[in-house]
Amino acid sequence: MTIDDRDPRAPGEHRMVTPSRSRARDLERYAGLFAARTQVMRSSAMRDLMALTEREDIISLAGGLPDTSSFPAESFAAIMGDVAVDSCARSLQYGPTEGLTVLKSCIAEVMAEEGTHIDAEDVLVTTGGQQVIDLVCKTLIDPGDVIVAEAPTYPGAVPTFCSYEADVVQIEGDEDGMRIDELERALDRLREEGRSPKFIYTVPTFQNPSGTTMSLARRQRLVQVIRERELLVLEDNPYGLLRYEGDALPTLYSLDGGEFVIYLGTFSKILSPGVRLGWSVGPPPVLDKMNVGKQAADLCSSSLTQLFVAAYFASGRWQDYVQSLKEIYRRRRDVMLDALAESFGPECHWTHPQGGLFIWATLPDYIDTTDLLARALDQRVAFVPGRAAFLDGRGASCMRLNFSGVGETDIREGIRRIGEVVREQIELYERLTGSRAADPVPSCEPTPAEPDAQLADVLHLPPLAPVRRRRPDAREG
Ligand SMILES: Cc1ncc(COP(=O)(O)O)c(C=O)c1O
Repeated sequence: MTIDDRDPRAPGEHRMVTPSRSRARDLERYAGLFAARTQVMRSSAMRDLMALTEREDIISLAGGLPDTSSFPAESFAAIMGDVAVDSCARSLQYGPTEGLTVLKSCIAEVMAEEGTHIDAEDVLVTTGGQQVIDLVCKTLIDPGDVIVAEAPTYPGAVPTFCSYEADVVQIEGDEDGMRIDELERALDRLREEGRSPKFIYTVPTFQNPSGTTMSLARRQRLVQVIRERELLVLEDNPYGLLRYEGDALPTLYSLDGGEFVIYLGTFSKILSPGVRLGWSVGPPPVLDKMNVGKQAADLCSSSLTQLFVAAYFASGRWQDYVQSLKEIYRRRRDVMLDALAESFGPECHWTHPQGGLFIWATLPDYIDTTDLLARALDQRVAFVPGRAAFLDGRGASCMRLNFSGVGETDIREGIRRIGEVVREQIELYERLTGSRAADPVPSCEPTPAEPDAQLADVLHLPPLAPVRRRRPDAREG
């Protein structure tokens, strides 16, 4: 609510107006004050779609929500009780910008679980992993600087890259992750133009949004390339411990030894996004600058949640909880894969992730998934349209599907509903063109679309029934 102009019937008093009534005039009033960078700032597709996950009448396969309903309420109460008794004043106090020592030890334990050994002292604790992306950009990116990212890339990084006015070059991937030969070609092209990326951004394990994992050979080659060319990599790794099959692979950080790799970790997917705690380790001069950037951003991350996580780790059961999450997610992934095979025709194809939370589906190139989302919402189901994962308009016929946030029954029903709207589009295409639908799509390469087609500007959510909040524990399966 904003305090707006005076109510003519009540002189001297202020009338509260809702944002929707005041927005147009407010924009006019303040637009001249906005910094130039706001022209290129974009709303995150996930943030926009997040509101839908609250609605009881919509099956949202859009978010990347972990299943926090499986965390035992009695454990939560006991841990909070311990924090209150043992560290009341400390948990209510500011802490050091780089984080509490007791939490940094937990972080070293998490990283060791994936075979990456660090000195706990070297950790910078952050407010979620998202803050690491922001701080790396804040530290390294001037307007126009180049970031190299995967195609598709994590949709939540797109608004950050845009805010810092980066020039993002996206490199195609396949089922083995980013193509390093393509990367090298892009680096050579940039070098010819007298440019060099400030950093290469990758989610090598169970990528968001594609679900794919970079092979060992590509990891080794990538590390070789960055060491030869002295380039920084931001390795974003929220999902490494959520493996449902196959052998674990070394992190880029461990292969490089922390000289050129800045590592991002988070508690969001192995415990809770509500604690808003992530971390970074990397070359000390870079981390020092990130620390200064963090001081300016939020002084420190929450002492309360840091002590909560530390107390939780002290109980020695965090690996058991991750194991229980893996069992839930493995089943949900299998249900989604089966449902896709049943409901999506041969014209479509999708990835088969060995872990993580997402499947990436590619439809025939005449289907635009941003348009399709409006139809899907009419059927009370949501997904993330592929364009959200690109900065150049590609990805129009792709979609990201999440299998961690809703139960098995909802996954089956959600995919059935999406399958129905996809089929309608295929039949419409066949009627209009008089042709049979295209043969199965040969690869999951995204289709180029209008470069300026920004998702936030094209996503018009249809009006829906009055909001009813989803009951917190209403998820089954
Ligand atoms: C690849 C990736 N990086 C970073 C984040 C940010 O996570 P958080 O800020 O909750 O730690 C996410 C969240 O979904 C993600 O998928």
